[in-house]
Amino acid sequence: MIETIELTKTYGKVRAVDGLSFTARPGRVTGFLGLNGSGKTTTLRMLLGLTRPTSGRALIDGVPFAALDRPLRQVGAVLEQGISHPGQSGRAHLVAQAILARASRSRVDLLLEQVGLAEDAHRRTGDYSLGMRQRLAVATALLGEPPVLIFDEPANGLDPEGIAWLRGLLRDHAQNGGTVLISSHLLAELAQLIDDVVIIANGQIRRAMPLEELYGLAVQRLRVQGADPGRLSRAFEGAGGKVVEVDEVLEVVGLSAREAGEIAFAEGVPLYELTIETANLEQIFLEMAAA
Ligand SMILES: Nc1ncnc2c1ncn2[C@@H]1O[C@H](COP(=O)(O)OP(=O)(O)O)[C@@H](O)[C@H]1O
Ligand SMILES: [Mg+2]
Repeated sequence: MIETIELTKTYGKVRAVDGLSFTARPGRVTGFLGLNGSGKTTTLRMLLGLTRPTSGRALIDGVPFAALDRPLRQVGAVLEQGISHPGQSGRAHLVAQAILARASRSRVDLLLEQVGLAEDAHRRTGDYSLGMRQRLAVATALLGEPPVLIFDEPANGLDPEGIAWLRGLLRDHAQNGGTVLISSHLLAELAQLIDDVVIIANGQIRRAMPLEELYGLAVQRLRVQGADPGRLSRAFEGAGGKVVEVDEVLEVVGLSAREAGEIAFAEGVPLYELTIETANLEQIFLEMAAA
C-alpha cells in the first residue's frame, strides 16, 4: 500500500505539493493524474526517498522509503530521467542493476524477453529509441520482483503497441495482488488501465475515486436530428432540457433518450438520429484538473 499524509514540498515560494493525502491500494492500478507542473513527479520522488518532504509523510507499506528493509525487492520505479549510461548495452545495465536487486542472470534474460528487448539487448542504450529506453526502465523496475510499482509517465515515448504491452503488464501485476501507482497528464491514455483515479492540481487533491464513479459524474448528452429541429428544440426545452442547435443537429442535456424519443413522437416529428453521447473522459479530466 502507498500512502501520503498531508504531504508538502515547497521550493522557495512554489508549493509544488501542498497538503496532499491519498492512498493507492494493493490489487488496484491507481492513476495519478494532473496537468504538467501539478506536482506529480515531486510527489513520486518523495515516495521514493529522492526528494525530502517539507512536511507531511510519504509511506510505502506504512514506512518511509528509507526505512524499507530491502527497497529494491519491495518497490520498483520508473522515473522521468534516463537511468543508464549511454555507452552500456541494455543487458549490461540490467546485469549491474540485478546485483543490487539480488536478482539472477536468468531473471535478466527473462525480463529482456518480457519487455521485448531481447534482440536489442547487446546494443548501447545511447542508440535506443525513447520507447526502448522506457522498456529498459520497466525491466529494471521489475528486477527485484517488487509488489509495489511506481511509474512516472511511463507511456511517454511508447508507441500504441508499447502502451498495450505496458497495460497488460500492469494489469497482471495488480491482479496478482500488487500495488501500482502510475502518473500521466492524459487521462485517456490510462482509461483502459486504471481502477482508481487521483487527480491533482497545484499540488492539491481534486478528486480521488474509482474510475467508474468518475464516468458517473459525466454529464450525459443526446444528439438528436429530426424533420423539424425548431419544433423539437422548443418541445425539449418545454420539458426541461437544455438545447444547443448546430447545423440542424440538436445537442440536448437534461433529458433521457427515452424522454426525448417520446417527446418527438408526441410532437409528431420524425427522428433521423437519437444518440447518447459517451462522455468525453479527457474533457472531464481537464475540467477537474484546471488550476
Ligand atoms: N527541483 C525543483 N526546484 C524548483 N522547483 C521545482 C523543482 N522540482 C519541481 N519544481 C516545481 O514544482 C512544480 C511541480 O513540478 P512537478 O512535480 O515536476 O510536476 P509534474 O510532474 O506534475 O509535471 C512545478 O512548478 C515545478 O516547476
Ligand atoms: Mg512530471
